[in-house]
Amino acid sequence: MRHRAIESIVEAVGNTPIVRLRSLEKECPGVELWLKLEYTNPGGSVKDRPALQMIQDALADGRLTKDKILIDATSGNTGVAYSLFGAALGLQIQLVMPSNVSKARKDITQAFGTELIPSDPMEGSDGAIVRVREIVAADPDRYFYPDQYSNPSNPRAHYLGTGTEILEQIGDRITHFATGLGTSGTMMGTTRRLKEHSRPIHCIAFEPAEALHGLEGLKHMGSSLIPDIYDAGVPDEIIGLPTEEGWDMADRVAKEEGLHIGHSAGANVWGALELAKTMDSGCIVTIAADRGDRYFAPMRWEKKYVW
Ligand SMILES: Cc1ncc(COP(=O)(O)O)c(C=O)c1O
Repeated sequence: MRHRAIESIVEAVGNTPIVRLRSLEKECPGVELWLKLEYTNPGGSVKDRPALQMIQDALADGRLTKDKILIDATSGNTGVAYSLFGAALGLQIQLVMPSNVSKARKDITQAFGTELIPSDPMEGSDGAIVRVREIVAADPDRYFYPDQYSNPSNPRAHYLGTGTEILEQIGDRITHFATGLGTSGTMMGTTRRLKEHSRPIHCIAFEPAEALHGLEGLKHMGSSLIPDIYDAGVPDEIIGLPTEEGWDMADRVAKEEGLHIGHSAGANVWGALELAKTMDSGCIVTIAADRGDRYFAPMRWEKKYVW
């Protein structure tokens, strides 16, 4: 119900559209490809769902109060989400992020009044996590640390929202769900909901094929701090994704489908299409975490980013 009048921007989270990739489907006759457009959330990414859920759950049980500072480590999208909900709900936000994230990223979060704390660019997102833990440990009463990597509200947001919406939108036709692992919240929560469906749905976790990759937002689990919310037993299968193909697919989807998606989304679509080519029939759903214009700032991933 996107045309309704709402009391606060927080009510605009979720109920994202899902769109069929008709042009790409020409390469996999008999198989449907669907992309859920999480970039239509108000903060422009899939991370609005877990950020809001973590804030709301913590406000409800008293872990978060207005006199505390919400602090977390983020590669960007979660930070944008915290920042906009912080502004909307009157909460102080501090974010630790590697100092090499783009100026645009810093500008977006600061526009909402968020304070940024830089961490070592060579340490990537893991370095930002370690830095937050140090800051919180030094003064625990001052902070609420949602810790998206270990907070069950993160996958819960996708269990309640993303997974439920996919079933409402696609219904019994869905045979496969596949998406990339970052914190793993999207994969864990959505899959748990889809596994409750009356018909079997094969759920695949995508991860970058290499430790050094350029798929921002995604984690190569073998070389990263493993998130507490990640349970390797939840997906039916784990498949590696190459960076170059993900970036190229993002460009292709913009030109052929009119969807200007980010690189993790490009990788998801590439993986979904490769899977579809191995099938005679079926219906695959994947996720567009964010939009391509979030990556307009200079990015030579092979030199600057260690995610
Ligand atoms: C661009 C992008 N893609 C994918 C993901 C992965 O989502 P999740 O953290 O739910 O695994 C993220 C999360 O930060 C992201 O920012």
